[in-house]
Order: sequence, then C-alpha cells, then structure tokens
Amino acid sequence: MRLKDKVCIVTGGGSGIGEATCVLFAKEGGKVVVADKNKANAEAVAAQCAKHGKALALEVDVAKSADIKRMVAETVKAFGRLDVLVNNAGYGIPASVLETDEDAWDALMAVNVRGVFLCTKFAIPEMAKNGGGAIVNTASIVAAVGIRNRAAYVASKGAVAALTRAVAIDHVELGIRCNAIAPGTIETPYFKNIMDKSPNPADARKSLEARQLMNRLGTPDEIAAGMLFLASDESSFATGTILTIDGGLTAI
Ligand SMILES: NC(=O)c1ccc[n+]([C@@H]2O[C@H](COP(=O)([O-])OP(=O)(O)OC[C@H]3O[C@@H](n4cnc5c(N)ncnc54)[C@H](O)[C@@H]3O)[C@@H](O)[C@H]2O)c1
Repeated sequence: MRLKDKVCIVTGGGSGIGEATCVLFAKEGGKVVVADKNKANAEAVAAQCAKHGKALALEVDVAKSADIKRMVAETVKAFGRLDVLVNNAGYGIPASVLETDEDAWDALMAVNVRGVFLCTKFAIPEMAKNGGGAIVNTASIVAAVGIRNRAAYVASKGAVAALTRAVAIDHVELGIRCNAIAPGTIETPYFKNIMDKSPNPADARKSLEARQLMNRLGTPDEIAAGMLFLASDESSFATGTILTIDGGLTAI
C-alpha cells in the first residue's frame, strides 16, 4: 500500500499508460482522480479503480485552463487534499517541420506542454497546504534522442523534460518533488492506432520490434511501475530526474 490515502490526479487516465497508472495507484491505496477529455473512458477506468478504493472520473481537457482549475477544485472537494499529480495526457502527430502546420503545432503544444504547465501551476498551492507532494510528468525518450517525422512531439517532450527540472528546483522548499518518466515504445491504444494507419501494420510492427534491444515493445504496466516509484515515498530522494524505461532502446 505504497500510496495509502494519497490523493492522486492522473491526466490522460482514460487509456494506455494513464489507465495502467490509475489502476496500480488504486491497488496501492491511492484515492484516484481519473482526468481525461474522453468522459466515457475516464468513467470506465474510475470504475476499475473503485474496486480497490475511492475514485473519481472527471472530464478534463488539459488545453483548457478552466477545466484544470475545476479538476483541482473538484479533487479537493471530493477528497480534501492533493498529494500526487501525474501529467500524462499527450499525443503526437506524424510529421516533419515542413509538414506540420501552425495550428497543429499550437494545438499539440497546448496539450503536451501548456497542459503540464497549467496542471502543475494549479496543483502546487494545494499540495503545499499539506507540506508537499509528488509530480510525475510523462516525457519520452525522444526528449533525449531524436526520431524521424515527429517534430512537434519531440520538441514538446524536450520541453516537458526541461520543465520537470525547473519545477523541481523552484519548489523543493515547499516539499514538492517533480520527476519524469521517459518511456520507450509502449503498446497502448495510441500506439496501436499509429500501427493500424500504416500501409502494412504487420510489417511496421515487426520493424519497430526489431529496433528494440529486448525485441519486444513495453507494456503500460511496466511504465505504471515507474510512475508508482516516483509518486510514492520510495523515491523520497529523487527530484528533477528523468527515469528512462525503454527496454534498453537508448542503450544501443
Ligand atoms: N505509447 C508510447 O509508446 C509512448 C512513449 C513515450 C511517451 N508516451 C506518452 O505517454 C502519454 C500517454 O500515452 P499513451 O500511449 O498511453 O496514449 P493513449 O492515447 O492510449 O492515452 C492518452 C490519453 O490522454 C487523453 N488525452 C489526450 N489529450 C487530452 C487532453 N487534451 N486532455 C485530457 N486528456 C487528454 C486521451 O483521451 C487518452 O485517454 C502521452 O503523453 C504520450 O506522449 C507514450
């Protein structure tokens, strides 16, 4: 019960890495707020969490400041405090700089970077009331190594990694730790969607697997395990760090 009675918000909690994180946090005693722009998915994940403890589903678009303020207010109204924030909502677009139009760039940055900034901004004062808390951001290995055809996404995750360090430095005195996870290639609905859209999904999958040191993709549960470590007191001496969980992809 590594999160016993801790109140945890997970953005993008309705699918993939966020879903696995919500369920693991609930199993570990956390009171989980599943925040997602997809209301039905948020409700389905909150129902899974409710088998283990208290959970709340909230329809939230992290690109909207008013939604984020409401998310923090409703969390505190329901559970009385806030201890953990997982900034996980995010997406990518398959495009180089030349192929990325300005509106698509702005929309992605509003979710992947501005969303992390605003959730953090509105969560910190609530965490500080109870002597601190833990913030975990979902970055990506693309913050450290480039990949083809994902220009806006790569830039956004670089910003998340840098913001993680800035928040860690600025708010250590409030008892707030801020860390990030850098997942490698993880088999989530988002990832499956990209595979399905490629001309030959089976070949695309095989070539991606061949790039992996372990010759397989990661699972959402393998990332959730890292989330739990960084959200819980087990990582009490870790702040401003990026935990890479990529099956050795970036070691090659
Ligand atoms: N899957 C991978 O290989 C991989 C690798 C590295 C990093 N990541 C990152 O992990 C995070 C989760 O990705 P996933 O693969 O689990 O994707 P996913 O699509 O399965 O889940 C993402 C969830 O975020 C929600 N979401 C998207 N935009 C939102 C918004 N504006 N407000 C609130 N919720 C929103 C979606 O509705 C969805 O439920 C993302 O930040 C992604 O960039 C994924």
